[in-house]
Amino acid sequence: MDNRAAQQRIGQIRQQLVQEIDDKDQKQEYAQLWAGFYKKTLQQRLDQLNKIQNVNVEYFKDGGLSLQNANLMVENCIGKIGMPLGLGLNFLINGQYYIIPMAIEEPSVIAAASAAAKTIAECGNGFETYSTRPVMMGQLQLLNVDNQSKAECLIDSNKISIINRGNQACQNMVKRGGGIEDVKLRQLGDGQASVDIFINVCDSMGANIVNTVLEHLAPLIEEITGYQVGIKILTNLCLNRKVTSLFKLNIEKMNYKNYTGQQVAQMILNAYKFAQLDYFRAVTHNKGILNGIEAVCNATGQDGRAVNASLHGYASIDGKYKPLSKYYIEGDQFIGELSIPISVGTQGGVISQNPLYQAVFQILEYPDSQKLAEIMACVGLAQNFAALRALTVEGIQKGHMSLHAKNIAISVGVPDHQVEDAVLFMKNRGSFRKETAQEFLKAYHLFQEIAKVKGKKNQSLCTFSAQFQLEGSQEKVELHVVFDCHSNKRIDVDFLSQSEISIKLFGTKGHTWFQNLFKIINIVKIEEQSENIPKKGLTVKLKVISILINLLSYNLLIIDYDKTRNYLNYVLNQQHIDFPDGEIEFKYGIALLTELLHIFEYNIQQFIGEQVLKNALLNEQNLIIKSHINSFEFWQKAKLDKEFQIGNFWLYRKKRLSCTMMLLCDCINFKSIDEKLVELMKQLGDVYEIEITLTRDTEKWKDATLKDPNIYTYWLMQHDQLLQGDRNCVLDQFKNESSAMLEMKRQRIQPLLPTSMAHLSKQATTAVSLLYQSRF
Ligand code: HMG
Repeated sequence: MDNRAAQQRIGQIRQQLVQEIDDKDQKQEYAQLWAGFYKKTLQQRLDQLNKIQNVNVEYFKDGGLSLQNANLMVENCIGKIGMPLGLGLNFLINGQYYIIPMAIEEPSVIAAASAAAKTIAECGNGFETYSTRPVMMGQLQLLNVDNQSKAECLIDSNKISIINRGNQACQNMVKRGGGIEDVKLRQLGDGQASVDIFINVCDSMGANIVNTVLEHLAPLIEEITGYQVGIKILTNLCLNRKVTSLFKLNIEKMNYKNYTGQQVAQMILNAYKFAQLDYFRAVTHNKGILNGIEAVCNATGQDGRAVNASLHGYASIDGKYKPLSKYYIEGDQFIGELSIPISVGTQGGVISQNPLYQAVFQILEYPDSQKLAEIMACVGLAQNFAALRALTVEGIQKGHMSLHAKNIAISVGVPDHQVEDAVLFMKNRGSFRKETAQEFLKAYHLFQEIAKVKGKKNQSLCTFSAQFQLEGSQEKVELHVVFDCHSNKRIDVDFLSQSEISIKLFGTKGHTWFQNLFKIINIVKIEEQSENIPKKGLTVKLKVISILINLLSYNLLIIDYDKTRNYLNYVLNQQHIDFPDGEIEFKYGIALLTELLHIFEYNIQQFIGEQVLKNALLNEQNLIIKSHINSFEFWQKAKLDKEFQIGNFWLYRKKRLSCTMMLLCDCINFKSIDEKLVELMKQLGDVYEIEITLTRDTEKWKDATLKDPNIYTYWLMQHDQLLQGDRNCVLDQFKNESSAMLEMKRQRIQPLLPTSMAHLSKQATTAVSLLYQSRF
């Protein structure tokens, strides 16, 4: 390495850094320009690139290389193979921001390099780089050398004439300021020596020119030494073409995810130490560096194999394979450094054969070969830093798999602008399978369909999922909902996850609760005698949606009664009202409830033929929600409004049990549905609802709060018994009154039931006993 030149360059760079990096505005302006680039569509990205860098983006669309050129480049050509090209962002190198094209088939590499570069720019002053001049070494093998020292003296004393003769073979390089700089003989022993020719190859990678010079020099070397020249070839281990990239981070600012800067720094040092101690780990550590370097090689038309060979050779130059990067702490600074031999060119090679490379170099602002090597070292170092940070903080799979999810989403046909939503959906479900992406797609299509009907526009989309395995049945009930939450923040909830938001909106009801509930629902369900139940899936799905609507609307009323009531009153009257504002969880809940109502309605309109049943189902759903609103309202007014009859409270309170809804859903599978059947189901549902409410509320009346209206406590308040301390003794009185009312209703319905359903009016009693056996 030419130390003086390198030092001078560092001096210049530092000066530049002082002037430019302190310019906070420049950093901010840049950050704003490219932040969130990955969230844009492909076309938006191309437009931005074209606008900012004035690049002809057409080449990027088909890979640039023509078939004719491909045919000229390799033997037996049959076509060409594409590779994705992306942009590494946030690279602040020696005070200047670079946008770095990277071509690689592996997801997460470009994101990782950009994320690390962002940290390095924001928590430090970006990368500092320096490099030696582009000097390559060629080798002439000397054979049958019986006197190594004599051969060395002969080469040394004829150095000038060797240089002059060699330069004849590379006159253009000499004119550019390059050409042969030195000649040395290395004794190898065992009858062999290597005549090493050092050539400044300027902006070329150097392989061609070095090999040309070597072949030109071979006869002269044989003449001077008297020994036979064997092979003549450059070495890819270009120790005289070294580049260094370095960054310093303020440790305090290195915090990442839930870890402090100190912790992150220490964890990365531990991982680095592992690579120093163990060459199995060192190889993978270096693979991470090569992820970045090779991607830039691919994008800029370099011989990546040469770079790879050089780096692995250098990693083991002391006889033990070592990590190429270094990490250490100095005072309050965490320092990362990568110093490697790289041979890359910006002229010659395949660069002129494919116009795409010209566009790539335009993005890079036409670096010379030294600058390009420096850029590569920065990308390699950034990628290594990102991988170590991810490995130590959260494991590599989280980031890697979520980006891989993008590929899966695309492969199942998720449209471009929804890929990010699909990925988030998969991430939250913790499943990166094709089936999961398909579930999203299906839910998205439904959302679009409904949005078309309702004339809505989608902004940021949230998702909701619920899956249940019903006991005793192979059947899995799945519900995936995509909806517009009217917020920039997207939220994805899995009902079964029991996450904070899920508990807030649905209570602690989980999988077991649903299973138990369906056990009871199945006791009170009516079945058509037919073997063939064509719409069984729809029946269960509507039941689940209705139960979710029931739970959600109830909980939203608890969270904010006034806003929810107001909103729901408009929605139920088919009037428009803007989404109420509030905490994000509340907005999510309201939007989800709206979407569930739409999905419920959509399924009914699409898949149920009989108007009478359609109307009954839709009215019943509205009645359930209205009853929630009213039972809260009457419950709050109970003490003040003595005139208000318990019968009215019964009307609303019992609807929480939604038995009528369950029976109406069962009607979907009946061969013939008419007004009479629907009316019968309503009356039967009424009996069920009263009996179950009666049992539930008399069991739980002591727990009644303003948030959980209770029929018995209401009755007590009406009778001024609540505050007088003799509540237990009147329980029987209430039960007797209510049971009489229930029995009357049961008697009324019994003669109306067909023989096949005669047992049904008593089924609620069985269900109730099961309910209180299991106490779910
Ligand atoms: P994060 O910190 O959560 O990202 O990392 P963020 O959401 O905070 O975003 C920060 C910046 O990262 C963004 O800035 C983007 O520039 C970029 P903004 O635009 O917001 O201003 N970014 C993205 N760019 C493009 N597409 C994206 C994207 N997301 C963020 N989707 C990240 C998330 C995936 C980057 C992180 O988890 C990570 O670095 N993971 C490591 C991934 C990795 O190293 N992959 C390589 C393959 S694994 C391997 O082969 C090598 C290995 O074996 C080597 C070894 O063992 O050492 C691991």
